[in-house]
Amino acid sequence: MNKTEELEKLNKEMLSCSKCELRKTCNQVVPGEGSADARIVFIGEGPGKKEDETGKPFVGAAGKFLDEMLSIIKLKREDIYIANMVKCRPPSNRDPLPKEKDICWAWLEKQINLIKPDLIITLGRHSLEKFLPGQRISEVHGKALRREFSKSSKQDSLPDEQIFYVLYHPAAALYNGSMREVLIKDFKRIPKVLELINPKLSQKNN
Ligand code: URA
Repeated sequence: MNKTEELEKLNKEMLSCSKCELRKTCNQVVPGEGSADARIVFIGEGPGKKEDETGKPFVGAAGKFLDEMLSIIKLKREDIYIANMVKCRPPSNRDPLPKEKDICWAWLEKQINLIKPDLIITLGRHSLEKFLPGQRISEVHGKALRREFSKSSKQDSLPDEQIFYVLYHPAAALYNGSMREVLIKDFKRIPKVLELINPKLSQKNN
């Protein structure tokens, strides 16, 4: 099986997950979308109403803004991968509970290990808290951070070293003009971060 097929298989398995209560109230599981060969994986919080209706991540108002920003840096959905901390919509769009995020982590961890992205971009505080605990979004947004693990301290099967880029959640910028500007400014730095990680790949892709 190639990477794309493996990811399809994994996402299909996810559709029959009922390990937490969220599956009882949502319409459908929203595994994620994009390329298995993506250099970037974006990670949001969880599906909202539109995502729950369509089965696709970031298709509501926040998703439209995300698409706008992707086009500014000449990327399309097909070039990246987008997933969420939880794959099922929390009732009334409440925050996912720690227990729900913990249970759903097993799926996200598998997706990341399959795709092996150069860069993981956290969207908002839920994914930031998971990957870079203790960091404040107001201090680290627009920054690339390298997380290194020693074998003994590892709590998951992510690579020993992974680079993250921190962004505010696009929904936070929808009705806030100055936040919108900050997010666009941070977004525009993504190509540079990718180039620093691997100049050869960036030349080939652009
Ligand atoms: N917000 C998220 O965090 N994820 C989605 O898929 C949609 C909105």
